[in-house]
Amino acid sequence: MASTEITIGSVSLKNPVICGSGEHVMTEAGLQSALDAGVGAVVAKSINETQAAKDQLDRTDYALLDGDWNRLPWDFTAPRNATLACRSGLQKMDFDTWLEIITRLDATAANSGKYVIGSIILADLDAAVDMAQRMAAAGVRILEFNIGTPYGDEAAGVVTTERATARVTEIVKAVCDAVYIPVWAKITGQSENVAALAQAARAGGAETVVLMGRFLGMIPELDTQAPLLGTNLGTGGGWALPMTCYWLAKSRAALGADVPLIGMNGARTGNDVLRMILAGAHAVEISSAVFTNGFSVLADAVKTVESYLANRDQNTMEIVGRAADRVVSFSGLPQRPGFWEQFVPPEAL
Ligand SMILES: Cc1cc2nc3c(=O)[nH]c(=O)nc-3n(C[C@H](O)[C@H](O)[C@H](O)COP(=O)(O)O)c2cc1C
Repeated sequence: MASTEITIGSVSLKNPVICGSGEHVMTEAGLQSALDAGVGAVVAKSINETQAAKDQLDRTDYALLDGDWNRLPWDFTAPRNATLACRSGLQKMDFDTWLEIITRLDATAANSGKYVIGSIILADLDAAVDMAQRMAAAGVRILEFNIGTPYGDEAAGVVTTERATARVTEIVKAVCDAVYIPVWAKITGQSENVAALAQAARAGGAETVVLMGRFLGMIPELDTQAPLLGTNLGTGGGWALPMTCYWLAKSRAALGADVPLIGMNGARTGNDVLRMILAGAHAVEISSAVFTNGFSVLADAVKTVESYLANRDQNTMEIVGRAADRVVSFSGLPQRPGFWEQFVPPEAL
């Protein structure tokens, strides 16, 4: 019998679709809308202790772009191949107000087997440990600890982009040692070895590793000859899925098939959720697509996953890593002399 349920360490999710953090879950209404869409869990908009991160929310801007890098309207009908380029800030609520909302919604979500996950973005480590302890004491059941936002180099001291394995282990360990609830470490994709960062986060005690963060970019505009939105920007799109799947597969190989991973960065639909699961994710976060196209993206993704598994009479767990485990090395392939000639323009032959 097909089951969408999936176990991530000590946590069991009713399905592998998670609403990722972002502006769409800044408010109680956003969090509730994500829960109502039927996800296994929703990660709240992140908070940290700095006033600068709160101030940054008043300097945000967002642009959707088509395949020619031209602006698209922001009308909640973004095509699945749109690029989202933006700069974001963090939750402006004071910590206690934010925590009250999360604990209250999480307690209600528990009645229907769902989770509302609290999220901290690292600035100062002692402050992160203190916030984590206060969250656990208040009853939050899962903490997502983001140590890999794309903005670390643009907003130093406000958020961080941790790329050194020893440092990743050190900071994840400091938080994991301080709380008894599961810690999900969210790591950067701006690394030459994301799998090594995943390994480092696990060594620090993370129950799972969420990979991987978006990339910094800069998009020159032809008419103004200035950078789009004036700054470097966090950049993402469905085009990121192959890189995320690659690093999921590499992390699965490095950490072992038993270690749960969460895929994130590039999932726009239920089919993308399934692709990331086949690459080694136990569950998948969708964020930008909810921001740009609304909460129905989540409900549709849940339905797609359910019907794919039902049609094949498979469980989520059975398909985790199936494609990753079938990747062969280039040298293991048979030789096909002249095969490349079918692919070049005729004038090249
Ligand atoms: C506008 C915006 C705001 C975001 N805010 C947060 C945040 O507060 N905390 C966090 O951990 N990730 C945040 N993210 C990152 C997303 O949760 C997600 O990791 C990333 O966008 C890649 O996934 P996606 O392709 O589904 O968007 C944000 C992303 C965007 C686009």
